[in-house]
Amino acid sequence: MPDSTAALAVICAMAEEKAALKEHMSFIETRDLLGRTVTLGQLDGHDVVVAESGVGKVASAVTAALLAREFGCRGLVVSGVAGGLDPDLHIGDTVIAHSLVQHDYGHQHDATLTPFRPGVPPLGSNRRDYAFDLPRDLAERLARVAVEIALPDLPDDLLPPPAETADRRPAGLGRRVLMGRILSGDQFINSEAVRRRLHTEFAAQAVEMEGAAVAQVGALLGLPVVVVRCLSDLAGSESHLDFPRFVAAVAPGAAMVLRRIIREL
Ligand code: ADE
Repeated sequence: MPDSTAALAVICAMAEEKAALKEHMSFIETRDLLGRTVTLGQLDGHDVVVAESGVGKVASAVTAALLAREFGCRGLVVSGVAGGLDPDLHIGDTVIAHSLVQHDYGHQHDATLTPFRPGVPPLGSNRRDYAFDLPRDLAERLARVAVEIALPDLPDDLLPPPAETADRRPAGLGRRVLMGRILSGDQFINSEAVRRRLHTEFAAQAVEMEGAAVAQVGALLGLPVVVVRCLSDLAGSESHLDFPRFVAAVAPGAAMVLRRIIREL
């Protein structure tokens, strides 16, 4: 049973994502953990240990396990950016995961991948419960907070000319913060066909490269895992251009949402 007074571990894949959180931390000290700089301190009065893991499922899973064991953390959080899968979402919207899936783990037969529970042999018909879901009461509490969160508009100089606005939320409508399913896999998605397939097959809102791997670690260690992702791109044919353009501008959105929900964790 985790100690309820222990720190929360926060895992960020990239420096921009960690920087957005560090700005709001107090009582900071740093430690080295197998070559990773871990930042200890408080986020709005809550003890946290924050690490930049590097990108991908292995990097984030190793970091999560090390943080949990080294600091006796009471829960695992992943904070950062993602590609949007749901065509109703726009760059700058934020998804809090009620469900996490490793979309690249499973049984590949011809063109079809049948997803399986990560960690079990991907053969046969058992262990098809492949999603890591938040406990219902936590998901409901987060959903109640999420609808109240208002994020500031993205800077004007990042907005595209009017002809290109399909990806971006029309001005004045505000950025959404919602609960959804987030997928993780060891690929950056830059394809409209793959975006559509992932959205349809998994009924998912966003895709990134770490969250569901940390969820697997959380399931092994008996720790809750909360993933907060602000959309830097829409995972389609423009995502390789949008990601570098928006990553630093949207990473603070995930940090803002985490600061609003942290008292529920
Ligand atoms: N993280 C941010 N954008 C992404 C994308 N398009 N695919 C995977 N991970 C991402």
